[in-house]
Amino acid sequence: MPHKKMLTSGATPQEVARDLAPLVTFQEAGMAWADVETLLHERLLPHLMQYGSPTFQSMFNALPEEGARRGAEMALAWNQGVTNWQVSPGGAMLEELCGRALCRLFGLPPTADATFMYSGTYANQEAIYLALHWFAEQQGVNLAHGGVAAFPQPDKLRLLVSKDAHFSVKQAVRMLGLGEQCLQLLPVDRNRRVDVAATRALVAELQPAHPVFCIVATSGTTSTGSVDPIAPLGELAREVGAWLHVDGAYGFAYKLVPEWAHLFAGDELADSISWDPHKQMGIPIPNSLLFVQRGDDFGRMTLHSGYFNRAEDVEPNPGLKSPPTTRPFSALPLVTSMLTLGLAQLREQLRSPLLAVRELAAYLQTQPDVELWHQPDTGIICFRVVPKGVKTAVLNKLQRWLYEKTMQGGERSVSLTTLDGEVVLRLVVVVPTHVTHLIETVTSLQEMARDFGQD
Ligand SMILES: Cc1ncc(COP(=O)(O)O)c(C=O)c1O
Repeated sequence: MPHKKMLTSGATPQEVARDLAPLVTFQEAGMAWADVETLLHERLLPHLMQYGSPTFQSMFNALPEEGARRGAEMALAWNQGVTNWQVSPGGAMLEELCGRALCRLFGLPPTADATFMYSGTYANQEAIYLALHWFAEQQGVNLAHGGVAAFPQPDKLRLLVSKDAHFSVKQAVRMLGLGEQCLQLLPVDRNRRVDVAATRALVAELQPAHPVFCIVATSGTTSTGSVDPIAPLGELAREVGAWLHVDGAYGFAYKLVPEWAHLFAGDELADSISWDPHKQMGIPIPNSLLFVQRGDDFGRMTLHSGYFNRAEDVEPNPGLKSPPTTRPFSALPLVTSMLTLGLAQLREQLRSPLLAVRELAAYLQTQPDVELWHQPDTGIICFRVVPKGVKTAVLNKLQRWLYEKTMQGGERSVSLTTLDGEVVLRLVVVVPTHVTHLIETVTSLQEMARDFGQD
């Protein structure tokens, strides 16, 4: 039998826990590094996921890009905190300069600025705080001092976001004390982009009893990679006096690919945009950014102290723009990656998965036993395997079964998501690939489905 190339062990959580137990059995006496390394090789590495394999087609993770890896090694060797000039002059300045260079690269206006964050989740959270703070100012409410209770009717405030949005938006409103009740989920069209006409109708119903303080457009939803229409949502936000946040954690990178840039038209109307270079850019985790169109908006995050981040400091001070005080040197691996790759190659690397997924969509439409669930905007595609004779009532069960069987096999990875109550299979491609790798996965799912017992 040919040796199978495994993505991961396929072991159960109990088996993995058993293997890892010696790693957390701490002893009085220290171990030689060689022994620790042997332990890691035997016990941990077999259970890690091989992101470098073309059969890893399920999530946003990637191996570090080579230039990024080298920059990350340098960042590690120096272990710089970059909250301000006093902690690391070069580190603080590089973070500032890199943020502004990225604003220019993405075509944001000269007033724009950026801050590095630990993850897209936190970037979204800060953006929604900024939105609420800004909105409070228009109402003469001091949010920083009085919290949400300072609004005359805080329970009436509304945030509009796609029903397919990432759960970090829900988490943000919970953590800001607004509660999930403030979320107004927006319907989506066939390709799972926010339906603008339906959104306008909803806003007409909500106003004026429920003031909308923020509209979130997702540019690249987690489930399907769909890009919400930013321009009309931005116009609507302007009309109702709301902040527009673009959650581009996954998708904003594709603005750099000229043939895909039109999907992001209208982003000049966005007050803030989040973006995760730790997704398809292969920059070591964590590496995220929050952009704002007007750099001064970050002033709403600013807190000074007597020992550093002082009000009188004139030097660069990234720690005034977002919460982490001890901040990782995130700018360095991003800078080294972009310098060594060059923009032309970066665009090629971003374009490759988009083309492969688009080709896969065309292929799936030729398959009688496959239902394509949306036309892909970016590098994610959802579909169902629907063999002839399988009853509609068990199709959700079949997709789950295919997912589980594939993952247990350990050779390739796919993912699942639920769209309008239906379970669908999902492929995600973030690194350069060829459509044949994706077709192989679909073929394997189609073959597996023949063994599915309906009862
Ligand atoms: C659209 C979107 N927003 C936000 C996030 C959260 O980003 P992070 O995983 O960096 O916290 C994700 C993660 O997948 C995402 O897909």
